[in-house]
Amino acid sequence: MNEEQRLASQQVNQPKQEKDYSKYFERVFTAPSLKDAKKRGKEEVKYHKDFAIDEQFRGMGQGRKFYIRTYGCQMNEHDTEVMAGIFMQLGYEPTEQIEEADVVLLNTCAIRENAENKVFGELGFLVKYKRKNPEMLIGVCGCMSQEESVVNKILKTYQHVDMVFGTHNIHRLPHILKEAYMSKEMVVEVWSKEGDVIENLPKKRIGSIKAWVNIMYGCDKFCTYCIVPYTRGKERSRRPEEIIQEVRELAAQGYKEIMLLGQNVNAYGKDFTDIDYRLGDLMDELRKIDIPRIRFTTSHPRDFDDHLIEVLAKKGNLVEHIHLPVQSGSNDILKIMARKYTREHFLNLVEKIKEAIPDVALSTDIIVGYPNETEEQFQETLNLYREVGFEMAFTYIYSPREGTPAAKMVDNVPEEVKKERLQRLNAVVAEFSTNALKKYEGQVVEVLVEGSSKKRDDVLAGYTRRNKLVNFAGPKELVGQIVKVKIMEAKSYSLRGEFVEVVKQTEVHA
Ligand code: SAH
Ligand code: SF4
Ligand code: F3S
Repeated sequence: MNEEQRLASQQVNQPKQEKDYSKYFERVFTAPSLKDAKKRGKEEVKYHKDFAIDEQFRGMGQGRKFYIRTYGCQMNEHDTEVMAGIFMQLGYEPTEQIEEADVVLLNTCAIRENAENKVFGELGFLVKYKRKNPEMLIGVCGCMSQEESVVNKILKTYQHVDMVFGTHNIHRLPHILKEAYMSKEMVVEVWSKEGDVIENLPKKRIGSIKAWVNIMYGCDKFCTYCIVPYTRGKERSRRPEEIIQEVRELAAQGYKEIMLLGQNVNAYGKDFTDIDYRLGDLMDELRKIDIPRIRFTTSHPRDFDDHLIEVLAKKGNLVEHIHLPVQSGSNDILKIMARKYTREHFLNLVEKIKEAIPDVALSTDIIVGYPNETEEQFQETLNLYREVGFEMAFTYIYSPREGTPAAKMVDNVPEEVKKERLQRLNAVVAEFSTNALKKYEGQVVEVLVEGSSKKRDDVLAGYTRRNKLVNFAGPKELVGQIVKVKIMEAKSYSLRGEFVEVVKQTEVHA
């Protein structure tokens, strides 16, 4: 089946009132279905290595500007880099000013209700730009586009939107733009079947110091609260040689740090049918590349295997920071979350990691106020936090996501109780963060200087290998270098230090 036929076979939900059939067939309308997105087929993921901009689109962006606003996780940030790369190959120029833009894209996140509300707010706001410049194209892409309720709401309430496309077809951007220029109707092209793996996509990276590299797409875990498996499709790993090649190229271009991306990186390689190759194997190869730092996110505790721990313990450019979302410390809650591990498994994993990497810094994600969470169950989360001694955490109040199993659960925990639990948890998070930072006072640490601090121009800012934010005074020339900084004072979430010296490239892995 070619792409056009595949598209045609996926057409659903076509509006019944439509009478003008010639117009009807011109219209691109492929709406999403969470039900279809839930299916996990056995068919092999196709690998395309030949992405190129078709001749028909050349010069489409001549004299035009694009603006992309990104919400959500680093995966989305990186998708924005790919879309920016496609825009630029089409001849568009980037702009930071919405009013100057000919195309505005909102790359959206569906993880919690407030993430979605922000996007709807922004969409409402964009009407005023569209009135001033009716030629402006407005597009919605990213995870929210994969939800049928969102697409229906946009069709009904936000008619100034010109195009909606999903996470599986960002490579179709040139086609979608062309349709949107030609059509008076909203162009909707969202595939619910997971996309294939497409290599060779152009990328306009936002930084020159740190770079994101996808190692896999999708998630098969289906935690009962989470929308991601529906919006990102089934797990598909990129081939190791493609990843290694990309990291090598980034190293040659002078990048200092790589963040490997996947929703569940510990499942890397599970889908390979011809080779037995997992995240530990990949890290063991990447370790040999001459680049100062390699990180990865996000880990799932269930698939974190001993080989990976063994490889991470070799250190070098593999840093001593692991983000390991636990979500809850209660076995009952973990069970209804379908996290597929117990508190004991998690603690045992942490012990193994600490044994292999004694100076490791662990951070986590926690959800409070899961349906029917009791005070005792919440206390178990606090206890676990203390027992592990996490140095940082992202904490959230549970937000029901339509189409997920948890959204159907009856919930007896009042909103005020949830808010109060979040505050109590955050107090523990702050206490542990401060204590972890206090230990650095008087020590000399390695900092990758990323830029000047948001507040003051002469204050530089960067992160240590263990992901601690450090501010210190110094000349701008240090940006992009790894330097030694003596820590003078620990604040709640950052460190203040004094510049000591630049670290020589050869010493960086010490
Ligand atoms: N793939 C990552 C998580 C991606 S989402 C992982 O499994 O670790 C990032 C975090 O958002 C999750 O770890 C979880 O803590 C939180 N989250 C996800 N769905 C949520 C929901 N419905 N309500 C509140 N928080 C949620
Ligand atoms: Fe969501 Fe769970 Fe997959 Fe993470 S592992 S993306 S929380 S379903
Ligand atoms: Fe949000 Fe999608 Fe990432 S839901 S967190 S942008 S994978």
